[in-house]
Amino acid sequence: MEHPDVLLDEVELRAVVDRLAAELSAEYDDGVVMVAVLRGSVPFLADLVRAMTIRATVDFVSLSPYTPGTGRVRFVMDASTNLEGRQVVIVEDIVDTGLTSAFLLGEFARRSPATLSLCTLIDRPARRVVPVEIGHTGLQIEDRFVIGYGLDFEGRYRNAKCVAAADLDVLSADPDAYVEALYCA
Ligand code: IMP
Repeated sequence: MEHPDVLLDEVELRAVVDRLAAELSAEYDDGVVMVAVLRGSVPFLADLVRAMTIRATVDFVSLSPYTPGTGRVRFVMDASTNLEGRQVVIVEDIVDTGLTSAFLLGEFARRSPATLSLCTLIDRPARRVVPVEIGHTGLQIEDRFVIGYGLDFEGRYRNAKCVAAADLDVLSADPDAYVEALYCA
């Protein structure tokens, strides 16, 4: 059986989410708008907003994956909330190249929010191609591919309860290689 390297187990995830929720609750007034990037941020967003102690509304965006080399990102689905004058937090599963976050920060900044910041569960700075200012980070990791808790490989593993580093060669040979370890423990 292939075993991924667990970076955040359920207990550690709870602690990270609680810390981020406390930071956000202290930083913002009532009524923050949490905009999550589909689909990877969904488990994180759901746990984060429930741990926050201020009122939050949620919204979602869906983006086209960029073509490597072009750096182009575009909306498949935009947020429907009017962000003008609002306190806006973008919620990401992982900031990797930074292209997604940089695109969203640029787009939303043009809508005149009162404040705009980025909260990510995972920060992997090793492959950054555009600088991004991250307001709140759950965990910074080395250059390793991660799955679980929203993060996928070809759509798999999003509902695994932990975040784990996986071997891309192993996944390429067998996309289900970690199913037994992550779901049948
Ligand atoms: P970006 O490269 O910072 O624009 O990140 C783009 C998106 O790629 C992220 O929001 C994730 O959905 C996905 N992604 C990047 N790295 C990983 C990974 O290690 N595992 C799963 N998805 C990833």
